[in-house]
Amino acid sequence: MNFFLSLALTFAALSPATAQCTTQLCPSRGITNPTAEYGDDDVLCSVLATQFTDGTLTEAECQVIANDAIIDCCPVKQSPQNCFICEDASATFNAAKAFPDGPTCGTIDDQFSYLPAGSCAVGFAGFVANGFNISSYCECSNVVAPNVCKVCDDDQDISTTANIPSDEIDFTCVEGAAYASHFNTQAACAVEVDIAETKAACCVDKGASGSTSSFSMNSFAGALMLLLAGVSFA
Ligand SMILES: *[C@@H]1O[C@H](CO)[C@@H](O)[C@H](O)[C@H]1NC(C)=O
Repeated sequence: MNFFLSLALTFAALSPATAQCTTQLCPSRGITNPTAEYGDDDVLCSVLATQFTDGTLTEAECQVIANDAIIDCCPVKQSPQNCFICEDASATFNAAKAFPDGPTCGTIDDQFSYLPAGSCAVGFAGFVANGFNISSYCECSNVVAPNVCKVCDDDQDISTTANIPSDEIDFTCVEGAAYASHFNTQAACAVEVDIAETKAACCVDKGASGSTSSFSMNSFAGALMLLLAGVSFA
């Protein structure tokens, strides 16, 4: 999230004379954001730049990374905007909706505005990897929540008074169900959700007082952590 703050940081031009890769990182403008981090290994953009020139990376690797690292290492706001949190420019969304302790949908859409044409998938990658539908979470007018996660049995409803059993997040079962409705597949849920534990805590007999059937149900032990990691383009 800090690349907005560091946009103004020093321009650190590459040294083409010693380049191992013909492909350059941020060729036209150099690295505008040296303190940003790239990739799963959180490599500083300044370090990444040296890896382009010291032989660490192959030409093929440089080509892939150069395309991918633009948003982190040398972001430029696109005008007009090419990439949108709802994919469709004309769709509306809830800009104020936030991840717990995380960015708002408006902030995430603003990050999409830095992606050049043809690179929109970069913005979705972290969410897609976790099977989470950021477009439906942000209430895009053109997307219906997948709502495929199931924890409770068919003859059960969700307790409106119980909480998700988790040390990491403070959600009611109903909040958890709403959140989980944005997973694209049951398989993605099953990775994140302790089904048996959640079922025991959140599912009650159908029609029992203090229950609702308005959501399909899931919970998630590490889901929130993973998703917040996915929120960053780094
Ligand atoms: C969100 O879900 C819809 C179907 O409900 C699907 O068409 C769309 O591709 C998904 N988008 C993302 C970003 O996962």
